[in-house]
Amino acid sequence: MARQIVTGTAETKEDRVLMSEGIRPQRLEDYIGQEKIKDSLRVYMEAARMRGDALDHVLFYGPPGLGKTTLAGIIANEMGTSLKVTSGPAIEKPGEIAAILNNLQEGDILFVDEIHRLNRQVEEVLYPAMEDYAIDIVIGKGATARSIRLELPKFTLVGATTRPGMLTAPLRDRFGVVGHLDYYSVPELKLIIERTAERLRVRIDEKGASELARRSRGTPRLANRLLKRVRDFAMVKYDGEINAAVAADALDILEVDQFGLEKLDRDILETMIVKFGGGPVGLDTLSSSIGEDSGTIEDVYEPYLLKTGFIIRTPRGRMVTEAAYEHLGYDLPQE
Ligand code: ADE
Repeated sequence: MARQIVTGTAETKEDRVLMSEGIRPQRLEDYIGQEKIKDSLRVYMEAARMRGDALDHVLFYGPPGLGKTTLAGIIANEMGTSLKVTSGPAIEKPGEIAAILNNLQEGDILFVDEIHRLNRQVEEVLYPAMEDYAIDIVIGKGATARSIRLELPKFTLVGATTRPGMLTAPLRDRFGVVGHLDYYSVPELKLIIERTAERLRVRIDEKGASELARRSRGTPRLANRLLKRVRDFAMVKYDGEINAAVAADALDILEVDQFGLEKLDRDILETMIVKFGGGPVGLDTLSSSIGEDSGTIEDVYEPYLLKTGFIIRTPRGRMVTEAAYEHLGYDLPQE
């Protein structure tokens, strides 16, 4: 397994638990779904290995919880190099990114999560680092200031973002490989759940895995988390095995519905229906009405509501669809 070095606050407790339980796949062949990304990574990694070169810089974008960090770890493993993890908000000063870069070894993978949140000065250190494997350091002040160039080992930057639109063009243009992660299908999630259950030694039958997969909003992180919570219910209220009825009972108690919607998803739809006549409504209006951060609504909740067809985006704002009225049990407006 790749050596993991962690800087700043990027690695969460959940990340460490996933690692220690062996839930995260370590090899591309064990990573389920995202076939297009896997196919291209396989080729680019093989080519880099044949040339004895570092892999080109990679950008992953897509909703949270779909496996961007996991893929970075797999790249390090497959390339036989080390992974260093940090995040946009964790790096505040140009000197901090310079120090991180200066400590890298040849071929290392530097994973920068939430890369759209890097500040401008930090980002500017990255440009020559990515392009020429060098950083320019200014020594002295005023008239006597001069800049010296520090050579870096050839490394691979793996950036991840939920907001590709917020990346600056110069940064975006420096990634040779760009991969879009999309929500997982129910059969893919079912495989992921079965794989995790095996590693956690949780007994789950086929229908139980399907029920969990259907309600995991296309997101492995959520599927694995729900599996653990449902396991707790299965142990305490039942005989320990998860079947469809146990999963459905536990998920109902957790307020995760048939479509994988959580309470906040339903609050969003209900607010749009009751307060705004179904829309159109702007993101900021919706956000203050619900009392949830607009960025969280846009990154976390809205993509799945769009994907499931409960809302649509129009030039004048978001609107709920008939499916949302039906799902929440409201009559369609008379018109
Ligand atoms: N665990 C989380 N994401 C996964 C994936 N895509 N494949 C296998 N296991 C996973």
